[in-house]
Amino acid sequence: MRLNPHLVAMPGDYLFAEVARRVQAYAPSAPRPIIRLGIGDVTQPLAPAITQAMVEAAQEMGTPEGFHGYPPDQGYPFLQQAIIDADYAPLGVRLELDEVFVTDGAKTDTSALPELLAADARIGVTDPVYPAYIDANAMAGRLGRHEGGAWSALTILPCRAENDFVPELPAQPVDMLYLCYPNNPTGTVLTREQLTRFVRYAQDTGTLILFDAAYKAYITDPAIPRSIYEIEGADQVAVECCSFSKSAGFTGTRCAYTIIPKALKARIDGQSVSLNALWRRRVACRQNGVSYPIQRAAAAALSPQGQRQVAAQVQTYMDNAHHMVATLQGAGLQVFGGVHAPYVWLRIPGQRSSWEFFDHLLHQAQVVGTPGSGFGQAGEGYLRLTAFNTAANTREALERVLAVL
Ligand code: MLT
Repeated sequence: MRLNPHLVAMPGDYLFAEVARRVQAYAPSAPRPIIRLGIGDVTQPLAPAITQAMVEAAQEMGTPEGFHGYPPDQGYPFLQQAIIDADYAPLGVRLELDEVFVTDGAKTDTSALPELLAADARIGVTDPVYPAYIDANAMAGRLGRHEGGAWSALTILPCRAENDFVPELPAQPVDMLYLCYPNNPTGTVLTREQLTRFVRYAQDTGTLILFDAAYKAYITDPAIPRSIYEIEGADQVAVECCSFSKSAGFTGTRCAYTIIPKALKARIDGQSVSLNALWRRRVACRQNGVSYPIQRAAAAALSPQGQRQVAAQVQTYMDNAHHMVATLQGAGLQVFGGVHAPYVWLRIPGQRSSWEFFDHLLHQAQVVGTPGSGFGQAGEGYLRLTAFNTAANTREALERVLAVL
């Protein structure tokens, strides 16, 4: 048996697995309940419109007329249409049903979409960045060697307070550039002009943009693009990944979608090839989609009633985020994000590294954050806090954190 050498050579654990390991090791000796503001997992129960649709669909599955076998590879048309009507039509973005691919999670697709590209495709990411993008490409052998904490063949676009967390354009050519906005982990956003610059760059260079819009429900200013397709020409250069996880509480339920416009084409051997057709070919062989009750539940989240219920949940998380920003700033700390995103990016006071500060808060305050360095070298010196816990826990966590600083 010849193993995948890239998988064997992966450095360390996946970030959130390492965080979970440290918390688990400490939990038995913790003097009070630990409050988790680490992984971005939601805490509110599914909204009533969603559970009702799920129950009804499950009951339907138990009848001869309502039973559903394999779902269509790309998702049921009722959900594709609901996505187009609720998420894109209001933005003036026109899509056809077969440009929507229903999937079980944005992590699944952001990790798998590089399969559209050559095995040695050049990848670009912002730094800090959601670690799944890097790990997936490293396991596929696209990132070269891991030396001194960096991948030799990965193009990094640093995002720091000094550049307002706005990345520069890549200094060398890349085949695919990951952009996640609202950003995980910094909680910052790109303006329309800033995003347009990336779209024009992609048009000029033939770069594919993978736009991860998993947190778009948290944008409160209509001037900030919720979809990359609000930028003219983006349909020729970008795929977009979205999720029901962080908007409708589907982290455990699992449903997401990816948009691949039919205008998105690339050339190989003098031939123009549709990325939509390529992905359809790939999806048909690799997955059987998301179950009928869950797709019905996702469609219910997009119904007028579902949208109202879900918006109220998002608002609760945003209230947490705003409270976190105000409290931490009020204590003289430097924080970023938390305005159009459920993440607050805290600059660590003093000289502690991200992991040292993580351990300090875990052991002294019994509060879990995520060390910034786990998202990349430019994240060193920061800690990410999520707004996804309850209001009461969020308030208590902040009191505890401030008490040990
Ligand atoms: C995070 O905490 O960054 C996210 O919850 C991880 C994910 O969405 O997979």
